[in-house]
Amino acid sequence: MSAAASPLRLGILLSGRGSNFLAIADSIRAGRLHGVEIAVVISNVAEAPGLDAAQKLDLPTALFVSKGRKRADHDADVIACLQAHRVDLVCLAGYMRLLSPGFIAAFPHRILNIHPSLLPAFPGLEAQEQAFAYGVKVAGCTVHFVDEELDHGPIVVQRAIPVLDDDDAESLAHRILAEEHLAYTDAIRLVASGAYQIRGRRYVKRSS
Ligand code: GRF
Repeated sequence: MSAAASPLRLGILLSGRGSNFLAIADSIRAGRLHGVEIAVVISNVAEAPGLDAAQKLDLPTALFVSKGRKRADHDADVIACLQAHRVDLVCLAGYMRLLSPGFIAAFPHRILNIHPSLLPAFPGLEAQEQAFAYGVKVAGCTVHFVDEELDHGPIVVQRAIPVLDDDDAESLAHRILAEEHLAYTDAIRLVASGAYQIRGRRYVKRSS
């Protein structure tokens, strides 16, 4: 009988509301993500509701205020914290800060981000509003590995929804968020399985 594999340890980085973090935590609690645990939740904003929610769940948390600090200095603190908590996979969940090249190099193909558009359309801020204003008929969200470019690395999961005639930017963002919560769990499950390869920009399932 082989020993059970040790759980994949997540480090969650957030700056605000934290609904994607809570969706991941709920998936773990409900048994939708086997062999995965949250090692630490890190915020760069003291008032982030997601940080408060993590404390209420009795998860390990850390706060590194980034305002006014050099990116590399701040990132060095965050990397050290992730390493101290033996994090295998970093999940950006509304982390409103670009990562330095040193951060990405410390976790090669081990950082996921969620973005509320079907990339490569509408990278950057307020993606849902950008999509609505453009008049797209299909919107959605993307979970991707993080590389040096903004909202750019290999795509793991996308979920699409129709834009309805009576949508406004707010209702569209609300419906995209519901898809985000499903997409992040799916992406973590896929990455945790280890059964994939990254070929150039392409994330593909590995045949067994
Ligand atoms: C989400 O829309 C996510 O796609 C984007 O930032 C937002 C964070 O929301 N990167 P929440 O803090 O997870 O509720």
